[in-house]
Amino acid sequence: MMNKQQVIAKWSGEKGKRLVYPGSVVWPDDDCVSLIQKMCGSGSICEVGCGTGRVASAFQPQQYVGVDINETAIQKAKEDLPSHSFRVIDWDDDLPEADVYLFYTVLLHCPDEELSAVIGRCLRGKRVVVFESMSHKSRQIGNEFQRDLEQYEAAFLIHGWRLCYHKRLLSNYFPHFRDYAIFGKGEE
Ligand SMILES: C[S@@+](CC[C@H](N)C(=O)[O-])C[C@H]1O[C@@H](n2cnc3c(N)ncnc32)[C@H](O)[C@@H]1O
Repeated sequence: MMNKQQVIAKWSGEKGKRLVYPGSVVWPDDDCVSLIQKMCGSGSICEVGCGTGRVASAFQPQQYVGVDINETAIQKAKEDLPSHSFRVIDWDDDLPEADVYLFYTVLLHCPDEELSAVIGRCLRGKRVVVFESMSHKSRQIGNEFQRDLEQYEAAFLIHGWRLCYHKRLLSNYFPHFRDYAIFGKGEE
């Protein structure tokens, strides 16, 4: 399996940008925008791993900041959506303060040994929204780190986040389902 440095190298620079944009899946896939908006709400949002910013347009510029370790992807996001805020971060950097942290097809790229540290950086939020196809069975050796919902539940619980909502939708695109999960601390 890839380690943290290999994952960072995979997503860095032009190569990483090509992996995200234009990407293999059309956007928005399966009419997910209204669901994402509903799950994130009207507060401030930090999208972690925003890539070239394709999800950002679902949000008002003043409520949104996108961060990513890929400098060229962030540059493209800034060109495409000049009113929205985007920042390059290093893997271990603190995240900007926000009500909601959104991981849209990002945590499945996080090595198992790094997952707890990444979740721990969402310290000050009220809600964490995770979108991806959750299936440990889909994990391919050396590639990505897909997990079942139960594995995310256990990892989030260590940091005091409880599963508040989960929805699995069928998709036209491989692997033909998408999971949406909200974790909260019971303060809302
Ligand atoms: C599959 S892409 C998804 C991009 C975007 N969310 C989208 O759906 O278009 C995964 C993105 O997460 C970024 N990424 C991976 N691990 C990260 C981390 N620990 N912190 C910030 N960004 C990360 C990568 O650079 C890449 O842009």
